[in-house]
Amino acid sequence: MTPEDTTGDASEYDLPHLVMTYTALNSLSILRDDFSKLDRRGILRFLSACQRKDGSFSALPNGGESDLRMLYCAFVISSMLNDWTGIDVDRAIDYIRQCYSYEGGYGQTPGGEALGGTTYCAVAALHLAPDTQRFPRGSWLTPEERERTIRWLVQNQTHSGGFSGRTNKLADACYCFWCGATLSILGAGDLVDERALVAFLTDCQFKFGGISKAPGERPDPYHTYLSLAVLSIITTSHGDDESWKLPQLDALWNATESTAAWAREHIPAKQGSC
Ligand code: FPP
Ligand code: ZN
Repeated sequence: MTPEDTTGDASEYDLPHLVMTYTALNSLSILRDDFSKLDRRGILRFLSACQRKDGSFSALPNGGESDLRMLYCAFVISSMLNDWTGIDVDRAIDYIRQCYSYEGGYGQTPGGEALGGTTYCAVAALHLAPDTQRFPRGSWLTPEERERTIRWLVQNQTHSGGFSGRTNKLADACYCFWCGATLSILGAGDLVDERALVAFLTDCQFKFGGISKAPGERPDPYHTYLSLAVLSIITTSHGDDESWKLPQLDALWNATESTAAWAREHIPAKQGSC
C-alpha cells in the first residue's frame, strides 16, 4: 500500500462536518491532547459558514441536514473554545424556540413532533448559551415552558422503567440518556424513578456483553454508551447497588467531568495566541 492509499478517497479539500468537529474535540480531550495544533480561527470561520439565515446550522458549510442536532454541536464547540464570535447566538435561540412543541418537547425542526433526542439538544444548547442583550441568562424559557418540558420528559418514563423518545412509543435505552440528561440539566433529575431506570438498563444487557435498545435486542456501541452516560448523571446512589457507580458526566458537553475540565483548560486560545 502506498502512503496515498491510506487516505482512501479523502482529499485536502474534503469538507469539515459539525458533528465530527464536536466529537473530535471531545475525543482529543479524552486522549488528553494539548491542542497546540488546533486551528481555532478556522473552526470559528467554519461555524459561521454553517449557520443558516433562520439561525439553524447545517452539517457542512455548503449544506447538508440543518436542524437542532447540528445547532447543539455548534454550541458545544463554541463553549469549548470559550469563543462565541463564530455564531449569531440570538438567531440560534430564535430557531430553538421555534422548535418548541405544544407537548413541551422540541422537534428536530420548527413544527416537528417533540423528540427526546432533539429536546436534549435544545435544552443543553440553551443552557450553554452566553448572555446576550436580547436573551439574558434564563430568559429563553418561561417558567411555564420549563414546567411543560419537565412534565413531558417525566411522562416519557414508561412502566418498563426506561424512557421513550416520543409520546406513546416503547422505551429505548438511548432515550434514558436524552430524556434523563435533559431532566438533570433542568434541575429535575430527582423526578426520575432511578430504581426502575437501573432495572430497565440492567435488563437491556446482552448475555455476551454490551447494552441494547430494549431487553432481548442486539447490543450496539450507541446504546451501550448512552446507557452508561445516563447512569453517570442520574444515579448518584443506586440504593444498595454500587455496581453501576461510574465517574460523573458533564450533562451539557456529554463528557466526563475530568475530560470537560481538561477541555476547558486546553481548548480555548491562550491570550496573545489564536
Ligand atoms: C427519531 O428516530 C429520532 C430522530 C429523528 C432524531 C433524534 C435525535 C437525537 C438522537 C439527537 C442526536 C444528537 C446529536 C448531537 C447528533 P426514530 O423514529 O427511529 O425513533 P423513535 O421511533 O424511537 O422515536
Ligand atoms: Zn435508541
